Amino acid sequence: MIGVGISMAKRIRIKTGIDGVDELIEGGMPEYSQVLLAGGPGSGKTLMCFEYLYKSAHNGDTAILFSFEEDTKNIVANAKDAFTEFTDIDELIESKKLIIYGSEMSRAYMSRGEEKPRFAFSEMLTQLESLVASSGALRIAIDSISVIKLFIRDAFEYRDLSVSLISMLKRLKVTSIITMEMATPEKSSLIFEPEFFIYDGLIVMYSTGGSESRTPAIEVIKMRGSAHSFATVPYEITSGGINLLVLAGRSNRSR
Ligand SMILES: Nc1ncnc2c1ncn2[C@@H]1O[C@H](COP(=O)(O)OP(=O)(O)O)[C@@H](O)[C@H]1O
Ligand SMILES: [Mg+2]
Repeated sequence: MIGVGISMAKRIRIKTGIDGVDELIEGGMPEYSQVLLAGGPGSGKTLMCFEYLYKSAHNGDTAILFSFEEDTKNIVANAKDAFTEFTDIDELIESKKLIIYGSEMSRAYMSRGEEKPRFAFSEMLTQLESLVASSGALRIAIDSISVIKLFIRDAFEYRDLSVSLISMLKRLKVTSIITMEMATPEKSSLIFEPEFFIYDGLIVMYSTGGSESRTPAIEVIKMRGSAHSFATVPYEITSGGINLLVLAGRSNRSR
């Protein structure tokens, strides 16, 4: 049969920069991947996006965060509070290596006062595309896609818009993390939403264990082009970044 035996060229890997996560996915996300990061409230999605972009910028690659949820000042203040070892955040922002567009930008496209809430999504995508193209950024995070779901209730329209977002990001040749709020942080109640499957990768942040002792843990459900781990790995949020605790019998604290 034609096609059998064709081996795929080795894909370039883009590091998430998160201690332990890259080890789960063969060294990083395949270049140009659009990866969905799903988790409950407070699981650390925004901080993980920030760490990915911060590390990229710190290593010389321009990175942009588009937040639909929080304003720029809050995002930076929270990240500085959590990650006190990231001492050059201000310099990276000043030099436009790390660019943060808070909800001030996306709010301009949302209106609630009319009969029906409206989100001018296509117009916003056009602006997003030109901002990414003019900055030369290669690493993007969008936090979170769930806000869009609040405005666009029709499941087919939501899926179509998600597909256009992903196509745009692929056209721009960026490697992105896009977050999604899960209704529950419990691993046992994870529901696979239809739109999960349009992304190249899916990483989930859960709370595991009973109500008495909750442990946050991370799992890679899908990563196209990667023989990824299926382990559910506990993590902690430390002043030096998010840190997966145990992987293949060793601590990931050591760098
Ligand atoms: N200074 C800190 N030290 C340790 N953990 C922190 C600190 N600041 C925030 N966190 C943790 O990060 C969580 C918020 O992370 P965030 O990325 O905003 O969550 P999400 O975006 O998933 O809602 C908090 O609930 C807390 O557990
Ligand atoms: Mg958040």
